Amino acid sequence: MAIRTQAAPGAYEFFAGGGLAGLGLAGFRTLFANDIDPAKAASWRANHGGEIAVGDVWDLSATDLPGRADLAWASSPCQDVSLAGAREGLAARRSGAFWGFWRLIEALDADGRSPPVIVIENVVGLLTSGQGRDFGAVCEALAGAGYRVGALEMDAVHWLPQSRPRLFIVALRGLDGPMSAGPAGPFHTPRLVAAQARLPEAAREAWAWWSLPFPPRRNLDLAALLELDAAVDWFSETETRALLALTAPLHRDRLEAARASGERRVAAAFRRVRVEAGAKVQRLELRLDGLAGCLRTPSGGSSRQYVIVCDRGEVRARRLTGREAARLMGVPDTYVLPAGQTAALKLMGDAVAVPVVRALCDGLLRPALAGRAVSPSPAGRVPT
Ligand SMILES: C[S@@+](CC[C@H](N)C(=O)[O-])C[C@H]1O[C@@H](n2cnc3c(N)ncnc32)[C@H](O)[C@@H]1O
Repeated sequence: MAIRTQAAPGAYEFFAGGGLAGLGLAGFRTLFANDIDPAKAASWRANHGGEIAVGDVWDLSATDLPGRADLAWASSPCQDVSLAGAREGLAARRSGAFWGFWRLIEALDADGRSPPVIVIENVVGLLTSGQGRDFGAVCEALAGAGYRVGALEMDAVHWLPQSRPRLFIVALRGLDGPMSAGPAGPFHTPRLVAAQARLPEAAREAWAWWSLPFPPRRNLDLAALLELDAAVDWFSETETRALLALTAPLHRDRLEAARASGERRVAAAFRRVRVEAGAKVQRLELRLDGLAGCLRTPSGGSSRQYVIVCDRGEVRARRLTGREAARLMGVPDTYVLPAGQTAALKLMGDAVAVPVVRALCDGLLRPALAGRAVSPSPAGRVPT
């Protein structure tokens, strides 16, 4: 008897960075990957083997994309929609790269090669940038091309000791996906529900509340991911004192309580500029809840994360290492990081957390593709 084997579904990865989306897309073959940053592309190559196209997404055409992918994944740049940025939106230079990606999807469609699954990953600021117009424009584009559209706000904290909420817009065409009748579960957050209500009518008509299983209970905390004390560089006493002198008053009390306990307690800390009595002051803010703050790209002093350890009445401080940042993203230690700490932190600060992609892949993307129950709908129409 002949045994029929089915090829693994294929994926195009846009804005692929160091390839963390690909690490989470278990069971998919990468048919094509692209990123504009040669350093990130080098990391992608070092960890995935094969080729990545280095260059601007606007310079690609459909002929650069081989075969027909089942999934197109786009982690497009977020600086212009991020709550931490100036929020010029999807029309701005960096975040506007999304439209460079969308132009390719339109060209693939014209070629009869549109992927049945599209995932767009971004910061949650996309829900509200431009008073919701950016989110509306993305959902409208997908709906107009015949996709059923939904989104999930997934925080990496369900899997990893890092608070990192991210938005995943999932669009399916000609496929059924697991869905609920209305918002339900931890990934349909109040701000997502509010943003959905503000969508243009065509996008709301195409909307689906994709449902994912509840995440398992997280069993890791920050302390468990740290490198051995002897393997890392600690600040000198003078440097530690200078850093701790910036501690915000309430945080200083918490740190003092942790120190006085005599136990080993680990804090993540960041420098922030705060306005106090009308003046800008640098403050060190700590969290002692076993979580790291959201990793960011180290472009300014405030985005660097510190590790503060209280042990037997002493307090030591140092910077978070690139390997620790990788662990906070769910990346295995076999992943080859760039040599410099800044490059490693930049790579991880920009990336998507691997277990989150994995949960989306296992709970929604692969089940939808395995079903293949619905015949493809023509462009411009949404399956009912
Ligand atoms: C949010 S990061 C995505 C990282 C990736 N998901 C990962 O997990 O490593 C956005 C990526 O888009 C890339 N990028 C920015 N503008 C681009 C453009 N115009 N064309 C192609 N890639 C671009 C950046 O270099 C960056 O790696």
